Amino acid sequence: MASHGKRVYTLADVAAHSSRNDCWLVIGGKVYDVTKFLEDHPGGDEVLLASVGKDSTNDFEDIGHTKNARAIMAQYFAGEIDAASIPKKIKYTPPKQPFYNQDKTPQFILKLVQLLIPVTILALALSVRIYTTQST
Ligand code: HEM
Repeated sequence: MASHGKRVYTLADVAAHSSRNDCWLVIGGKVYDVTKFLEDHPGGDEVLLASVGKDSTNDFEDIGHTKNARAIMAQYFAGEIDAASIPKKIKYTPPKQPFYNQDKTPQFILKLVQLLIPVTILALALSVRIYTTQST
């Protein structure tokens, strides 16, 4: 376990304490030295060790820790986190979609032509037949 000389730490400072023998966490803008708590954590030591080197606020809140958990947490307070050292959330940019033409007119015309060709041929054949039967 390290001494807590200074009170404001960067994320890099905290990340230097990421082992079972020296474990710091960042929760709600504060730094906690949970080394001595690892064994006693009801959720197990593995989850705490998996939360090192980053802002674990969301992990902590998602569990829905009780007031009791928050009271215990206070005992392990080591200092504040330098907010500027925490990377901002990466903005999600959706992948570019291929151009989609909503205008269906060209397809419609093509279908119409495809339908008209056999109909015209049929009409022509019928006319020829009618013409030839009449002339005989
Ligand atoms: C100093 C920090 C922490 C303290 C003092 C603490 C304390 C506690 C306590 C007292 C409980 C029992 C339930 C309750 O009273 O809420 C608990 C459960 C638990 N904690 Fe933490 N916790 C800390 C950080 C974390 C972190 C960072 C995680 C990461 C995900 C975590 C995950 C869990 C899980 C999974 C449980 C079990 C929940 C269940 O079985 O329903 N805890 N914790």
